[in-house]
This record gives sequence, C-alpha cells and structure tokens, in this order.
Amino acid sequence: MRLTPEARLERYATAFAGLDAPFAFVDLDAMWSNSADMLRRAAGKPIRVASKSLRCRALLQAILDRDPGYRGLLAFTLPEALWLARGGFRDLVVAYPTTDRAALRELAAMTAEHPADAPVIMVDSAEHLDLIEEAVGQAAAPLRVCLDVDAAFWLGGGRVKIGPKRTPIRTPEQAGDLARQVAERPRLRLVGMMCYEGHIAGQGDKIPGARLKSAAIARMQRVSHRELRERRAAVVTAVSQVAALEFVNAGGTGDLELVAGEPAMTEATAGSGFYAPTLFDNYSRFRLEPAALFAQPVARRPGPGIVTALGGGYLASGVGGKDRMPTPYLPQDLTLDALEGTGEVQTPLHGAAADALRVGDNVYFRHAKAGELCERFDRLFLVHGDAIVDEVPTYRGEGRCFL
Ligand SMILES: Cc1ncc(COP(=O)(O)O)c(C=O)c1O
Repeated sequence: MRLTPEARLERYATAFAGLDAPFAFVDLDAMWSNSADMLRRAAGKPIRVASKSLRCRALLQAILDRDPGYRGLLAFTLPEALWLARGGFRDLVVAYPTTDRAALRELAAMTAEHPADAPVIMVDSAEHLDLIEEAVGQAAAPLRVCLDVDAAFWLGGGRVKIGPKRTPIRTPEQAGDLARQVAERPRLRLVGMMCYEGHIAGQGDKIPGARLKSAAIARMQRVSHRELRERRAAVVTAVSQVAALEFVNAGGTGDLELVAGEPAMTEATAGSGFYAPTLFDNYSRFRLEPAALFAQPVARRPGPGIVTALGGGYLASGVGGKDRMPTPYLPQDLTLDALEGTGEVQTPLHGAAADALRVGDNVYFRHAKAGELCERFDRLFLVHGDAIVDEVPTYRGEGRCFL
C-alpha cells in the first residue's frame, strides 16, 4: 500500500528525530516495493543490477541476496569491477569500454587465477581489442569480452539517430565480423553481447503537461522497439555462429517488460528503479515509489512564504535542463526559486508549507538520477517503517570514486 506524503513525513520525523541534516537515506519499504514491481515486470527474465545506479556495496549485496531473479552486476568502470570482485562479488560485466591499462593488467592477473569469475569487459571495435592486447601482453588466460551493439533508432537512413551514441556495431554482419576478429585472438574470448536502448529504457513517455511530446515519444519508442527486436535477434544469431554466448543483455528500469518479451535476450538490466529518482517518474508502464532521498535543514527565513535550506545543489548529469535539479519532496508543495534553483550552499524554497517550517526542521529532496546522489554522501541511513535500521557506506564513504 502506498503511503500518503503526510504519513511518510510523519515516519521520517520519527526516524530522524535525533539526527542532524544534511544526510541521505534509503526508505527500504519503498525500495523493496520497487524491487518487487521490477521483478514482476521482468517476468522471470534475470535482472543484472546496474551498480552505477546504486553505488553502495551493502545495498548491491542486499539486492542480490533478496531474490534469485537478480543475477550479477553491470559495473561502470573496470577498477570498480575489480574492487567489487576482490570484495566477493561475482558475475560482473563492465558496461563501458575501458582504456585503463593498469586495470587491464590487474584483470589479466585475476583472470589467470579465476578464469571463469573475473569481470567481463566491453568492446565494440578492433581498436579496443588492440588496446587490451597491448596492455596485457602475454596473459595466461584469455580475457572475457562482451560485444556492445547499437540500439539507436535511425531516421532518414541514419541521418538522425535517437538513442545512445556509443558503439559503431549495428548490423548482424558488423557484429559477426568483430566476433570473428575476437575469435582470431587467443588472448581474448567473446562470452557476451549487450544492446542497450537508452531512448526507450531511460526516456519517460508520460511527461506531465506535455501530451503531444509524450505521444511522440511513445510512438518513437514503439516503432524503434519493433525494429530493434528483429535486428538484435538477428545479431545474436550471427554472433552465435562464431562464439558461444553466455549472456545477451539489454534494457533498463524503464522497459523491463519489453526485454522480457524478447526470447533472444537472456537477461535485462535495472538499477535506477531501486532508488526511483525523479527522472523515472514519467513512464506510462509503471509507477515507482521514491526510495532514495536526502534531507537538508531549514537554516533561515528570508520572509513570509519562503525558507532557505542549507545545501541541496546536487545537479544530475545529462543535458543541463531543469529536470536535472533535485526536487523538494516533503513537506509537499515547496518549490524551488526560479532564479536560484538548488544552490551550492543555500536553497530557497517557496510555498505555503514554508511558514509551518522552523529553523532546524528538515526538508526532504529527491535527486533527478539514482547513483549520483551517493557521490555527495558518505553513508546512507536505511529506514524501515519509522525507524533507522542500519547505516551503510556509499562508494564515496568507502573512499572510492570511480567517475
Ligand atoms: C548499458 C546500460 N544498461 C542499462 C542501463 C539502465 O540502468 P538503469 O536501470 O539504472 O536506468 C544503463 C543506464 O544508463 C546503461 O548504460
């Protein structure tokens, strides 16, 4: 059952009565409810957990332990994946190509010791294969690599590309060709394929106040997925003639049900859906509960109908629009100042609720994206009901900053 905002606020007031803001926390009731909904939407397709969207080892472990539907991690850098592997995590795939030669040498050493357990790295070109081989020299065991395939939606014969601009590999022929180049190199072994459709998985199709834009996005996504579904199945067939693929990965929080319906995809990815940041509010197919929040204290009162909180300016990455700013969440109906937004050290907040707030009270904010919040805080308080039940370090709190 979804809590009303008032009930949530009451719970947090009890949970944090003895704590001074600023701090960040995860509402476990909301996170596990989001988790259950994602598992339902994935309909039995295993979910690889995107570590960049959590950036907290304790929570990654808790999620993997929670349900056998979660299988492995999609890491964001090789040093991160090596650190996670040394800490006992298994089944790691690094989602983005690495150029870190020292980390590649460390991967080679790890692979020599544990050939099946070392992280898998991403490639999309002969240039990547060359760089890896040059970095590792005569590694004893072949490094396991994954082929990244383009999922973008092309209009006008490719003149307009909607979707992630990452890999040049798009057709079955191109993928088969690169797979053969991997096969010719004894120090590399192709074990996986990935094809991430960010323009569907990471783009809401139900934007408040933008009916026409939402309809256009929904239509683009439908048409794109129709094309993608056929093409990536054909790519899997082509690559499988060259290498025995252990996994084929696609999708994200926003489109688990689409990946679930594609037999050629052996697994989906999800990460943001656990924390449910504001950029994941606007989807027609699901509704998540805000789970990762941060509290800033009301520090002063410039006048009637306005308070100023300390801090808050934790902008999210991407195109620098207003939707990248944190959103004041509780108490309800506070709005950011049009000229100041969220400040480096001070954030003015307008609204009727401001007059009921006292200096020292908390305002709870939501971040626009998931994992980036953890680059701002050393720890996350974990809340269940109206109590803090644990306190866990973020990557940052463990002294780790990967990107
Ligand atoms: C390669 C890849 N797969 C999957 C995802 C989806 O992650 P999330 O569920 O956090 O949106 C992303 C996010 O950017 C990604 O880059």
